[in-house]
Amino acid sequence: MTKALYPGSFDPVHLGHLDVVEAVAPLFSEIVVVAMFNPAKTDGFFELDEREALLSATFAHLSNVTTTRFSGLVVTAAAQLGADVIVKGVRSASDLDVEVQMAHTNKAVTGIQTVLVPSEPAHSFVSSRFIREISNCGEDVSSMVPTSVTEALGRRKANS
Ligand code: PNS
Repeated sequence: MTKALYPGSFDPVHLGHLDVVEAVAPLFSEIVVVAMFNPAKTDGFFELDEREALLSATFAHLSNVTTTRFSGLVVTAAAQLGADVIVKGVRSASDLDVEVQMAHTNKAVTGIQTVLVPSEPAHSFVSSRFIREISNCGEDVSSMVPTSVTEALGRRKANS
């Protein structure tokens, strides 16, 4: 019985994130997907509670996946939620550099191991940052996000 934590800003969650969770769902008994509050990124696009709601809608079809939010370190979230491992997606060599260093750091701090999962090639170019940028400029990003995110972006636009 191994419980995994999949942390991220998820601002917003996209199809690359969905690929990662669908890939690891059969490998772990439980996966908690956590929308992390990052004090360094105060110019958030979606509020934390909306990011969590979008996570919940995105992973509703996976019976061993739950979602929550957390403010603090990833290693603290892992300890508080009783996770055995951290899962991270890797899209590119530059992602790998950062994630390997982060994995070693997190292991040095609390001993928790990180499992790195390569992105599916079909979505390896997708990033939340570019989704925000393109959506802000009025273009359609529905090919890169779940339906619930497309709908939330539509509501956001209508309310602006
Ligand atoms: O790429 P993302 O989705 O913005 O990643 C966010 C997060 C918090 C998962 C990533 O920055 C990370 O793993 N950081 C490790 C250091 C940490 O715990 N930071 C917490 C501040 S939110």
